[in-house]
Amino acid sequence: MSLRGPLMSAPSSELILVIDDDDSVRKTTVGFLNARGLATIAASSVGEALRLFAQRQPAAVLLDLKLPDGTGLDVLKELQRQAPGTPVVVISGYGNVGEAVEAMRVGATDFIEKPVSRDRLFAVVDKILRRPMPGGETDLERVADGSRYGMVGRSEAVQRIYQLIEMAAPTKCRVLIAGESGTGKELIARAIHAHSSRRDKAFVELNCAAIPSELIESEMFGHLKGSFTGAVSDRKGQFEVASGGTLFLDEVGDMTPMTQTKLLRVLQEGEVTPVGSSERRPVDVRIISATSKYLPDEIARGAFREDLYHRINVLTIAVPPLRARREDVPELAEHFLRLACAENGVRPKRLLPRAMDFLGQLPWHGNVRELRNLMERLVVLVPRDAVTHQDAMDAFQISGAASDEGQALPLREARARFERQYILYRLSANGGSLGQTARDLGIERTNLYRKLKALGIQVPRGKGARVTLQD
Ligand SMILES: Nc1ncnc2c1ncn2[C@@H]1O[C@H](COP(=O)(O)OP(=O)(O)OP(=O)(O)O)[C@@H](O)[C@H]1O
Ligand SMILES: [Mg+2]
Repeated sequence: MSLRGPLMSAPSSELILVIDDDDSVRKTTVGFLNARGLATIAASSVGEALRLFAQRQPAAVLLDLKLPDGTGLDVLKELQRQAPGTPVVVISGYGNVGEAVEAMRVGATDFIEKPVSRDRLFAVVDKILRRPMPGGETDLERVADGSRYGMVGRSEAVQRIYQLIEMAAPTKCRVLIAGESGTGKELIARAIHAHSSRRDKAFVELNCAAIPSELIESEMFGHLKGSFTGAVSDRKGQFEVASGGTLFLDEVGDMTPMTQTKLLRVLQEGEVTPVGSSERRPVDVRIISATSKYLPDEIARGAFREDLYHRINVLTIAVPPLRARREDVPELAEHFLRLACAENGVRPKRLLPRAMDFLGQLPWHGNVRELRNLMERLVVLVPRDAVTHQDAMDAFQISGAASDEGQALPLREARARFERQYILYRLSANGGSLGQTARDLGIERTNLYRKLKALGIQVPRGKGARVTLQD
């Protein structure tokens, strides 16, 4: 049954329904909103909330997740059923970001942590009511501009990431960013820091995979002079360097079990003990971690502590590989091409449509970083303003030849590798068409079938068959 009937008035443009059973939270929130010139109605239970919502059709809803006669999630689902599109902002208890994230999954527009701060409330309400923020551009304008946090992309996956960055930034919530190499994990970590209240303090990066295991402890927690060979003077650890700011633990899945245990203790106690010292020093650091490993698997095989995982992973941002969001390729390509031209002091170049189509089909194993490198190479290789399909293919081929880890290979193997790469790239250039690829390569179609099979590439049968190069 729909409650939107002819008897109901049109949604009131600036009426906000505040649902919270805690009198003081409700009154404060209502007071703030009224001071902002917004009309409010308030409810303290699910029953009251649904009744008011149906009667008054507010423009937006602020919803506490814990109510005496039901959960906020149930209310959220019911409101969405009755009036899809009504913005619902969740008010979550301190430290319950997990619940808020769950609500966002179900469709909440945004969330505010308790205690409700006036600035945060105004920012969120202005955003959902689409009012320009005083003295700044609106989020919508920032999206329309195509660039947010220095990030480019409009795929659903990336929009979701923008949302998560926005949610996480104002809190101290520990974020784990998971994704393949080159997907933009560090960029996201920096964006969270840059939009947090810690932005004026340090952002310190610690790559757990790059530091030898004997040194990582001293690197993290510091050491006293003489505590081990080579410790010629006292040294502060990165936890202390990052004090007041953000510590980015990159490749967090690569720590030894001993380091994991020590890190866990620091996270639990909020204190570090430098190597060779017994003094505990308090640290106030926000932790953001990144991993290219799938940590649940690492936990299953006993390589990563589950308790540590839960400590660092209050909120996960999963960054999909570029091949899973190909609609971002054109915008990213243009962005990096523009950047590379500017950096090299050359006139702006443009990608011709077929060059762009070609880019859209590549497997992008190196993700956004590979695309960026390819655009930089194009600027060096192509003197003309217009980049053709052939230019793009040439640049891609060079990258393939160069990415062979530099090791010497027997000629047979090198030839096989080259053949594989060349066939794959011709295939992708032809949108997977076997006939066209066989013609390009000057070989029979049956011969191409044989080669593809030998290369372990799935080949559909029949005339006009196309190979899907998803990976
Ligand atoms: N959405 C994006 N918009 C603009 N630039 C991006 C985007 N994603 C990634 N980049 C750029 O791609 C490059 C790789 O990104 P980044 O270093 O953040 O990846 P990463 O996931 O940390 O990789 P690795 O696991 O190898 O450390 C950087 O130059 C970064 O600026
Ligand atoms: Mg990185």
